[in-house]
Amino acid sequence: MIGIRHAKTEDFDRISEIQNLVSPERPQSAAGLLEESANLDSKIKQQFFVALFEHEIQGFMMYTQHQDHFHPQHFWLRAAVRPDFRRLGIGSKLLEAIMQELTPFNPILLQCAAQENRDFTLRFLEHHGFSEEWRRVNMMLDLEKFDPAPFTGLIEKLEAQGFAFKTIDQLRDDPERDQKLCDLGNAVSSDVPLGMPSTDLSLAQFKKSILEVSWAREAAFCVAIFDGRYVGVNNIGVDSNGNSFVDVTGVLSEFRGRGLAQALKLKGIGWALTQGIKKMFTANDLVNAPMLAVNQKFGFNHDPIQIRFGKKIQEQS
Ligand SMILES: CC(C)(COP(=O)(O)OP(=O)(O)OC[C@H]1O[C@@H](n2cnc3c(N)ncnc32)[C@H](O)[C@@H]1OP(=O)(O)O)[C@@H](O)C(=O)NCCC(=O)NCCS
Repeated sequence: MIGIRHAKTEDFDRISEIQNLVSPERPQSAAGLLEESANLDSKIKQQFFVALFEHEIQGFMMYTQHQDHFHPQHFWLRAAVRPDFRRLGIGSKLLEAIMQELTPFNPILLQCAAQENRDFTLRFLEHHGFSEEWRRVNMMLDLEKFDPAPFTGLIEKLEAQGFAFKTIDQLRDDPERDQKLCDLGNAVSSDVPLGMPSTDLSLAQFKKSILEVSWAREAAFCVAIFDGRYVGVNNIGVDSNGNSFVDVTGVLSEFRGRGLAQALKLKGIGWALTQGIKKMFTANDLVNAPMLAVNQKFGFNHDPIQIRFGKKIQEQS
């Protein structure tokens, strides 16, 4: 007998355990999951459901919404069922409960992501009417093997052209700093080819979910400055496993093609090396040729492709 209910705070150790069992590549702690929820903008609807089987939580599913690609009737799903409890109908029951709860919100689109090598997830999604929308590639750089030689002299060349590279702890004296970082983040986000229109973060939300979140490191948030303007960014976070990940890399369109993204990345990798961090993760849309080119140049390896799936519930008005 499968029982479905909303998750309680004390369920999150189990939720994180199941998620990490199913997706061991990028483990997430219970504290990390709870922090993510607590930091959400109040307009975001989110709920975790757990499935009990044999008196224990054997799976979970959650719905949430994108803060930076927000649409009030679009919902993002994430789920995991313990491998030894699959094919018992747990995933379907969880999805049914989520659909019931979402109905009053008049959903138009459900989305989720799955790795291309996860056959069971792909079959589950296909069975429930989801179809492929988009492809991203997960990438990882082994920092112990990083070779800086191809980038020798790049930062000095750009500095000679008038660019400065500063981490945000070095910019505390700029009273406009946070607003400029937020504006740059929004400008870059709107240019990431993600197949979904972006929505701006407010300054308050930017502070909460980017500057003050526990994975953030001020000395790893690097900005390219030209004539007082913030024109490029590379922000690195540290996950609960002690590995680093790229939150964002971006350069304002008029400053692209000069090597700024590479210089900013070089700074971020330099910081990670001083911290003794061994891996750096990132993910890029398969259509983002410039970003893929930059990451390949740095030696990032391709991990399995991540497929975004969508299910239209009704036509958009
Ligand atoms: C991706 C991005 C950060 C690159 O910034 P940039 O400062 O122009 O990058 P650089 O000048 O350092 O390097 C660009 C490299 O990509 C290559 N490149 C550019 N367009 C390319 C294309 N269409 N196909 C293949 N390679 C391409 C360039 O040749 C250059 O490599 P090279 O120096 O060896 O010639 C910038 O395009 C951007 O801000 N895009 C929007 C934000 C985004 O998508 N960010 C990634 C997700 S977080």
